[in-house]
Parts: sequence; structure tokens; C-alpha cells
Amino acid sequence: MKRDFLAVTDFTAQEVRDTLDVAVELKAKARRGEFPPYLKNAVGALVFHKQSLRTRASFEVGFYQLGGSSVYITGDEIDLGKRESIADVARVMSRYFSFICIRTYKHEDVAQLAQHATVPVVNMLTDLLHPCQLMADMQTVLEHKGTIDNLKIAYLGDGNNMTNSWMKMAQRIPMHLSIGTAPNTLPDADILAQTRAAGLSEVTVHHDPVAAVKDADVVYTDVWASMGAKDQLDQKVAALQSFQVNAALMAHAHKDAIFMHCLPAERGREVTDEVMEGPQSVVFDEAENRLHAQKAILVKLHQSR
Ligand code: CP
Ligand code: NVA
Repeated sequence: MKRDFLAVTDFTAQEVRDTLDVAVELKAKARRGEFPPYLKNAVGALVFHKQSLRTRASFEVGFYQLGGSSVYITGDEIDLGKRESIADVARVMSRYFSFICIRTYKHEDVAQLAQHATVPVVNMLTDLLHPCQLMADMQTVLEHKGTIDNLKIAYLGDGNNMTNSWMKMAQRIPMHLSIGTAPNTLPDADILAQTRAAGLSEVTVHHDPVAAVKDADVVYTDVWASMGAKDQLDQKVAALQSFQVNAALMAHAHKDAIFMHCLPAERGREVTDEVMEGPQSVVFDEAENRLHAQKAILVKLHQSR
């Protein structure tokens, strides 16, 4: 049966770990110039209703390196749910493509697409979740910390699709997820409750940034106003001033802590240049790992059909 990847929790804990192993193997092979054609002749649709650098580029290169190819389709062209129903789009695309990968606003639209598609649907970011990013992030954590288990991950800033994705990952991999955010920029309450109920990880929410990063192994941030929330920029900036990741705040994390950001970064706002360019920053490894982690996700979905 076809599988989708709309949330990290679409994979079991073992599948998350296995997929990360494949990502590590694919990265090592790519370094040796080896590109096994696991997706020979497969064509992926890449549908974008929002901007992208990393996601579009890494999916296109990924399909190519796996022996397949991809077609880039903008939201203007298919105008999902407006020009024709999401169910019809799903069924038509399933007749041409081996995968439907989509970046859009409403998570429910992607869920509906997946419900009607007969090929795997991959969430390339919604207002709610960005699961492919999280897989690349875990690969990066593994490379730099040697393990993904039982680390303290401090997430600073807006409670957004990245925060929600970290909570989903905390339902699969044990961690202490320490969220530092303002009272009016909290992440999704249902996902928070679900994560706590799952009982695998500890999730704490702090309004004091120093308490949030104290002794953290990983310090993570993201833009304060996401692509689906640019109209709220002024209020987010006002609320989140003290959550900027700068050298003074990094000093409260573990001395070997790494700094991560999914990018694009708005330097001088949620993070300083000094931290982005500093020795603890692994942001470009993280960007590279989008390629390897997503190739592993596609291979996993292809093999599970
Ligand atoms: N991190 C990420 O998804 O980047 P893009 O928005 O450039 O794809
Ligand atoms: N939270 C950001 C992530 C960008 C990769 C956004 O949704 O715009």
C-alpha cells in the first residue's frame, strides 16, 4: 500500500532510525561519486505555493541522483482546490507521477491530496509542519553529536511549523525539548498535548530564554514570521526580542552545543551574524542534509509501496 510522509509520525521510531541510516549511507556514497538508481524512471511532481531555495533544489537534485526526474509546478498553475477540486488534482497527478511533493499553506489540503492520491504524497512544508527539514536536522545532529538520543534541544523563537515538527520528532526519538517563546507565540496546543501524552520525551515551555537554553546540546531557531504569517511580523518581532540567539545566549548552552537554523535566516533578527558564522554553527551541513535525508525518505516510501 502507498505510504505518505506528511508528518514525522507517519514513520515509526524504527523507520525514522532506518531512514536516517539510509541518509547517512547515501551521503557517504555521494561523496565517493556513487549514485544508486533506486528511483529509476520515477518522476516526482514538485508543487510550490510558497517560495523555496533549499527544498526545490534538494528535491530536484535528489530525484536526479536517484535515477528519476521531477517536474516543478507552481501554485498559480494548478490553483489547488480552486481551478478544480483537490480530489481531482490528486487522481490526475497519480496517473503521471510516482510521487506528489507539495509545499502549501493549509495542512488539511495536503491531507486531502494524500487521501485521494494513489501515489505517495510528501509534505514539503505547510503552515503546520515541515517534516523533511526535521529528518535532515536529525541527520545533522547525529553527525555532530554522535547520537540522536536523550539530548537537550532548545528551540528559541516563534512557535511555528518547525517547533511543531520538533514536537512530532519528540514522539519518536527521546529528547528534552525545551521551547523558549513568548506567551503569544506558542506552538500548536494539540501537538504539544499529544507529545506530552506520548510520554517518550520531556517537553518544557519557557518564557525566559536563558532558562530555555541552559545546558542545551542543540540551540535551534527559525524566522519569527513564517511564510504563512508575514502579516503578523510586527507583533512577532515585538514579542520575541529577548529570544534572539546571540553570543550571550549561546553562552548558557553546553560548551559543545551546536547552533542550527533551517534557513533562510533573517540575520540580525532571530540570530546574529556572529552566531551564524561562529564555530558552533552547523547551518550549512543542515542545508546539505536536506538532499540526503529526502533521498532516503523517497527510497523508503518507494520500497514500502
Ligand atoms: N529550509 C527550507 O525549507 O528552505 P526553503 O524555504 O528555501 O526551501
Ligand atoms: N517557519 C518557516 C520555515 C522556512 C523553511 C516558514 O514556514 O516560512
